[in-house]
Amino acid sequence: MTGAAVPQLREGGEGGEGGEGKAAVNVLGIESSCDETGVALVRAAADGVPRLLAQALHTQAAMHAAYGGVVPELASRDHIRRVLPLARQVLAEAGTGLDDIDLVAYTRGPGLAGALLVGAGIAVTLAAALHRPAVGVHHLEGHLLSPFLSADPPRFPFVALLVSGGHTQLMRVEEVGRCELLGETIDDAAGEAFDKSAKLLGLGYPGGPALARLAAQGCCGAFALPRPLLHKPNLDFSFAGLKTAVAVRVAALGSGATEAQRADMAASVQAAIVEVLVAKALRALAQTGLDRLVVSGGVGANAELRARLDAACAARGARVHYPEPALCTDNGAMIALAAAMRWQRGLLQPQPAAFDVRPRWPLQTA
Ligand code: KG4
Ligand code: ZN
Repeated sequence: MTGAAVPQLREGGEGGEGGEGKAAVNVLGIESSCDETGVALVRAAADGVPRLLAQALHTQAAMHAAYGGVVPELASRDHIRRVLPLARQVLAEAGTGLDDIDLVAYTRGPGLAGALLVGAGIAVTLAAALHRPAVGVHHLEGHLLSPFLSADPPRFPFVALLVSGGHTQLMRVEEVGRCELLGETIDDAAGEAFDKSAKLLGLGYPGGPALARLAAQGCCGAFALPRPLLHKPNLDFSFAGLKTAVAVRVAALGSGATEAQRADMAASVQAAIVEVLVAKALRALAQTGLDRLVVSGGVGANAELRARLDAACAARGARVHYPEPALCTDNGAMIALAAAMRWQRGLLQPQPAAFDVRPRWPLQTA
């Protein structure tokens, strides 16, 4: 395709039904960075919050459960099988055809290289066949913008707490594409702390939701677990020591641990993680002087975290915004949304029908 013209977004004016005014685009989003295949169609007018028309998701959790974690090669192969059937399902649900797609967005990174290449390859090929542009999206930008598809969308600027299986970051977000890293984990991510502790307790993969369910039966003060970096004045996190402490305690309980002790351990782990996340998020609000917090990423689905953040933010007059529960974990809607919001602001770079993926990619450079 070297030298071929880069397809441009078609001119606005043809899709302005529903009072949307002039230009509007339909963005097909494809997410394949880890163990979820997500496809979605988002419609964006030139201004206003984009709308989710349809989305479909396939989680590979059951496939990876037997191995206790994600097997990258299996993930890539399964994405190949899933993307096109999911795309057909999304178009059927939205009542649209291939011709109605104006832009194809895919997750360019960060994530598993092989898994990313599947989504990128399919997206770029589909876009080329449709003579439409394709655009690579930063996975974390998708996460942090995902609350814009909720019933209570935030406004810029805000502090974002990104808590997923691979990342734990606090960011000051001025606008789409303009953010500053305030602090991040120096070792394990919060989701990893949930997952590794869950594994030590013999819970299945992914461990976060399973640990949260068990924690609901337990007492959070039963085991004194460390809260690393809680009292350091910075906005960094560390969860590796917590996992080690859990390993030592679980080993001490031995094979005779009762169900009540396991539930107490789960509740104590969850309390330790949540306390640190809440304290640092509140500190970020205080340091930036902002009064809006956006929470996103898989751990953002945790009910205890939400309850504690809601209470702490209400006490200081701050607002908290979350994605809809279905959009907390990886999905195609957030990828389409991020591309749509970049299009609205004129931030999309026309991309030739060639692509690369970025398994490691700091958000500030996106
Ligand atoms: O954002 P996500 O789907 O994938 C990544 O980009 O990493 O986040 C997945 C992480 C996993 O570690 C999972 O255990 C955790 O989010 N998670 C939860 C809950 N739901 C998902 N952790 C705690 N409580 C939950 N309810
Ligand atoms: Zn994610």
